[in-house]
Amino acid sequence: MSRSDAVLHVRGESRFVDDLPEPQGLLHAAVCPSPVAHGRLRALHVEEAFARPGVVAVFTARDIPGENQIGTVIRDEPLLADGTVHFVGQPMALIVAESAAAARAARAAVRAEIEELPAILDPREACARGELIAPARTFALGDVDAAWQECDVIVAGRADSGGQEHVYLETQSALAIPAEHGGLRVFSATQAPTATQRVTAWVLGLPMHAVEVDTPRLGGAFGGKEDQATAWAALAALAAYRLHRPVKLVLRRQEDMRFTGKRHPYSSDFKLGLRRDGTFLAYEVRFHQNAGATADLSTAILERTLFHTTNAYFIPNVRATAFSCRTNLPPNTAFRGFGAPQAMFVMECAIAKAAEKLGVEPRVLQEKNLLRDGDVFPYGQEVRHGKARASWAEAEKAYDFDAWAARVREFNAVHAREKKGLAFMPICFGISFTTTFLNQASALVHVYTDGSVGVSTAAVEMGQGVNEKLRHVAARVFSLPLERVHVESTNTTRAANTSPTAASSGADLNGNALLLACGQVRERLLAVAAERLGIASGELRLADGAVRCGDADAGLTWEALVADAYLRRVSLSAQAHYATPGIHFDRGKEKGEPFAYHVWGTAGVEVTLDVVRGTYVIDAVRLVHDAGQSLEPRVDLGQIEGGLVQGLGWMTVEEVLHSPEGRLLTDTLTTYKVPDLYFAPRVIETRLLEDPANPRGPFNSKAIGEPPFLYGVGVYFALLEAMRAARPGLVCELVSPLTPERVLMTLAGHRAPRPIGS
Ligand code: MOS
Repeated sequence: MSRSDAVLHVRGESRFVDDLPEPQGLLHAAVCPSPVAHGRLRALHVEEAFARPGVVAVFTARDIPGENQIGTVIRDEPLLADGTVHFVGQPMALIVAESAAAARAARAAVRAEIEELPAILDPREACARGELIAPARTFALGDVDAAWQECDVIVAGRADSGGQEHVYLETQSALAIPAEHGGLRVFSATQAPTATQRVTAWVLGLPMHAVEVDTPRLGGAFGGKEDQATAWAALAALAAYRLHRPVKLVLRRQEDMRFTGKRHPYSSDFKLGLRRDGTFLAYEVRFHQNAGATADLSTAILERTLFHTTNAYFIPNVRATAFSCRTNLPPNTAFRGFGAPQAMFVMECAIAKAAEKLGVEPRVLQEKNLLRDGDVFPYGQEVRHGKARASWAEAEKAYDFDAWAARVREFNAVHAREKKGLAFMPICFGISFTTTFLNQASALVHVYTDGSVGVSTAAVEMGQGVNEKLRHVAARVFSLPLERVHVESTNTTRAANTSPTAASSGADLNGNALLLACGQVRERLLAVAAERLGIASGELRLADGAVRCGDADAGLTWEALVADAYLRRVSLSAQAHYATPGIHFDRGKEKGEPFAYHVWGTAGVEVTLDVVRGTYVIDAVRLVHDAGQSLEPRVDLGQIEGGLVQGLGWMTVEEVLHSPEGRLLTDTLTTYKVPDLYFAPRVIETRLLEDPANPRGPFNSKAIGEPPFLYGVGVYFALLEAMRAARPGLVCELVSPLTPERVLMTLAGHRAPRPIGS
């Protein structure tokens, strides 16, 4: 790997929040969670817990000096339960003690008087009762009602996709330290330092300038720390503020799994109409999103579901309606793909059904209907520089789909107890926050007098390699070796009013801001060089650590230039702000130009199914991905493979299960299976699509974080093919994840139960 942190990680020297040197007088906090999914909180008796050894304080909603509110999109989420409890695991009280063990041990002594109320876990039931987080939204194109008459074939059905636990290696963590003037310094493992700062300020009734949030790095996040890191930071801050002592709150794995939200399960109904030749004419879909108890980011995620309803396909008549359904589960939240994978799963289900009815391979329908330049998405944006067909053609050329399919057929012809399946997955993902105002970032660059460079931006390093990309940007502008550039922690006093590092756009937004900031310093330095050398600054440039005039060395090194600029009292620092130009969206009309550009690609997924046991291996994933002109191909390759395997896991072995009472059953890594090295595809072949230019990305690069997750959706359909090869004519319910258990029951003709809450 080429990442500045890699060596530290391998040596165990990286400092995550829980590894920071412990300040003197540090206290530890533990959360006392609601034991029931829904109820009236009549009384909370904490005296006994307070009397336990080592306990310093117990805080409840009453102890919050500011607002008991952490909802940022919709203000519907109390920090500590007040009056009612809405899900199992909802924080009711915070116990602060001399040790984490003492704080946890005292939880058993908290007595809650709760009058239980009926709990809703199913999104369709919530929808039927009008329990919606926000009014339903509909994206429409053409005239879907009229189009059905022109269709030769119509298929309809229901598709359900399950939740997904983030399993970031570093659990939710925060350390709050009282500062002078009544303020606080908070180290938080958050993707959103500014949101954490803002919410902490609300909760404590402080101005934002009194709360400094610093994020050194995250041990993974995947969306799980976009909104849901805030509560723990605010709780630690509350205790530190009240007690005038530093307080640390670090969730244990099981607490983290129980208390925090996951990817949203969706339950959807679809109807797809086609001409006999396979052309898609009409698509209607209704998405029921299981939002959990409060809004969190559900409405934004729902919106992205709508944006990606038709994936990489053109359908002239579309109506997609989406409901964000309030249930008594922990608030579900951002997770790589942000609602798009759920939409694409439904689209591919519809295509699989249509292909079966028409008696063709799904890839025939997929290829025929891929977007072309000039086609319009249901949200009004036109396809420009589309790569759906180019990536498909490139993959077909590289991996020979016909020959691949023939190999699978030949295998199946001579094997009875094992069957192979092959499926293809084209993807299209819009880049930009769909909430337009979030598409801004800032960067601060200091060139020090020895010529070394320090960079601060709004981007949070969470293992995705954004810091490495930022180093590349600064190093390229100044034409320096990478080692001369250091990327600092993300900090609200150095980068203010920032957006979360999310929506795959961390490197784009912050890289562009950094380009501007470094560009300013470079211009100043070249002006100094021009004066000193008596040459027009337009003829000078920086190359390989020195000033050049054309191809000739101008006899001025970077270090000498920087030292000279300092003596001439020229500023060696710059701050810049970047806002993505040209994007807009009208939520009244549900039309606009929400994305700076799209990311495209095509994958083929081959599986082998053990027909007797229901187990399977993923033999190969071969893909062509559109990374633009990659800033750092090794980082992008890591993101492609990681995202892919995470997507494969979501569709196959990762199953979030709840009891009928709304208690999480899969709350350890023994009951919740994540893909490991042995589960990962035996072969992953990746090719980057040669792409001439993406002017919206720094140095023509493209966003990488989320799109590769979507390739994983293909495995579901490869498994369906293998199952049908084993049992021709098999009718499968379209429920994911397709665990070996579900495969086995389906092959045996049993109806596998639907997971509760999906
Ligand atoms: Mo990401 S799922 O936009 O935090």
